[in-house]
Amino acid sequence: MVSIAIDGPAGAGKSTIARAIAERLGYIYVDTGALYRAVGLYATANGIETTDEAGVERLLMSAKVELRHDKSGTQRVYLNGYDVSEEIRRPEISMAASNVSALPAVRQFLFALQQNLAMEHNVVMDGRDIGTVVLPRAQVKIFLTASVEDRARRRFDELTAKGRSVTYEEVLEDIRKRDESDTNRAIAPLKQARDALLVDTTGNTLERSIDILLKLVKEQL
Ligand code: C5P
Repeated sequence: MVSIAIDGPAGAGKSTIARAIAERLGYIYVDTGALYRAVGLYATANGIETTDEAGVERLLMSAKVELRHDKSGTQRVYLNGYDVSEEIRRPEISMAASNVSALPAVRQFLFALQQNLAMEHNVVMDGRDIGTVVLPRAQVKIFLTASVEDRARRRFDELTAKGRSVTYEEVLEDIRKRDESDTNRAIAPLKQARDALLVDTTGNTLERSIDILLKLVKEQL
């Protein structure tokens, strides 16, 4: 099986680019952020503070998180049998996901699920620790980044296109906070794997970034 790991901070274009690459190569696209979002949503819905380690850990005992891919290859995420793919995109779930993702019990809970997918399918998997922790032997590793302003602008455009009422400043603040907590957490922090290729997409259109990445991936395979 072939694994392509794409890591990087929020809003770097990982999901759109990874999805496009998976489609061109006929691999499945795995968005691992959706898993942390599902746990963040579950804690929030149950009134558990997302930083409360013992509380979240207890909650995991009744949580079943699954990823399923439909015929067109689109990933859906299920929480205890319910499709929560839309709900996990609520802006407040971003920080909830970032908070629960710093808890070792949560990372452990989601680890096997991610590895199993890569054992069963050719995957393009995106996240924060795919090249460093989840799939250290991935054939291709890319660390995708862009300036924080560019990332906030893209995320803002994405959210407003979906009809969410947010301001650019709120999105920028959220991305700054998540960068800070994702980079500085003790366990599986966001960082470039030693053998990952660094790609900075600042100023590029998505189409251009997809072309660059696809070329890089093909050279590496
Ligand atoms: O990628 P996305 O922004 O949807 O991820 C939400 C949060 O989940 C991130 O801010 C990060 O804290 C966490 N995450 C993680 N490890 C991954 C993917 C996401 O810690 N592999």
